[in-house]
Amino acid sequence: MLVLGIESSCDETAAAVVDGTQLLSNIVSSQVKIHEPYGGVVPELASRHHLKNITVVVQQALSGAGVRLDQLEGVAVTRGPGLVGALLVGIQMAKALAYVADLPLIGVNHLEGHLQSFRLGTDPPVGRYLALLVSGGHTMLVLVEGFGHYRIIGRSRDDAAGEAFDKVAKLLGLGYPGGPVIEALAATGDAGAIHFPRALPRRDELDFSFSGLKTAVANHVREHGAVTGHSLNDLCASFQAAVADVLVRKAIRAVRIHRVNALVAAGGVLANTAIRAALVHEASREGISVRVPPIDLCTDNAAMIAAAGAEHLVRGERDDMALNASPRLSL
Ligand code: KG4
Ligand code: ZN
Repeated sequence: MLVLGIESSCDETAAAVVDGTQLLSNIVSSQVKIHEPYGGVVPELASRHHLKNITVVVQQALSGAGVRLDQLEGVAVTRGPGLVGALLVGIQMAKALAYVADLPLIGVNHLEGHLQSFRLGTDPPVGRYLALLVSGGHTMLVLVEGFGHYRIIGRSRDDAAGEAFDKVAKLLGLGYPGGPVIEALAATGDAGAIHFPRALPRRDELDFSFSGLKTAVANHVREHGAVTGHSLNDLCASFQAAVADVLVRKAIRAVRIHRVNALVAAGGVLANTAIRAALVHEASREGISVRVPPIDLCTDNAAMIAAAGAEHLVRGERDDMALNASPRLSL
């Protein structure tokens, strides 16, 4: 099924065309440069820039795929969670296209998009499986009983892992977003230099907590003064290792506790090469089949929205013109 996907929930304006689980085009216009001076996403600026860019992004996705609007079989759009003004830009565009081309419309949960992103390129595991979703707003372990059947079995009680990267980068004066810059510095640091805490360590505890880790980094900076030179590389590597350690350990424990054989991981934090490698290495060592999407499908994109939307449309699910943004939508 040939589907156009549109994503505008936060600071990326994105459109993509898929044919079922085959990716035909994937356009992402990032607003990072616009929000950088403010140290985080400014909602009003995000909406304005989505509005400015969305038409071109959609046109590029269609031309990149070599597909005309009238050849599409559906339009999928992120309906939440996210910034309300930002979401509305994508939703209005999707509704307009669906209306003029008389196409079925489907609103997609952004979190389900991340969870299903591995489909673009790999087949879904057979039977139940476990998903680890780690983004800027969410950190969760999800037991997937089938498409659309998600049971959250672990979640962060405070900051999301991506948020911890962003906050730690901010307190180290490294700018926004934190993930890529911390990863780059960590690459030449010693991960064993500083032992940062691993929260909620009990074996049967599947919830996460990252705010204590952020505080530990802040305390370290307070005690040792401004971190510069190679100490900064060591600190970033030690922090990153603490995050990786907790994510990997809890994901593997969840697989064991819920007796599944396969693990799927997704979300912006999985763009981190060290975290991907740790997860794949440990899971494989334990005999668990593991799937992680390519890096550009881990961070926000519309391909994952199109792929999840295509599956909903195949199942006969539709939205009508009353589709609205759901800023606080949960999985
Ligand atoms: O999934 P995503 O693109 O957007 C949300 O839905 O939140 O995730 C964004 C988050 C940000 O917190 C960002 O710092 C983090 O993912 N991130 C990374 C890396 N690239 C992005 N974290 C660690 N290492 C990276 N390379
Ligand atoms: Zn996301």
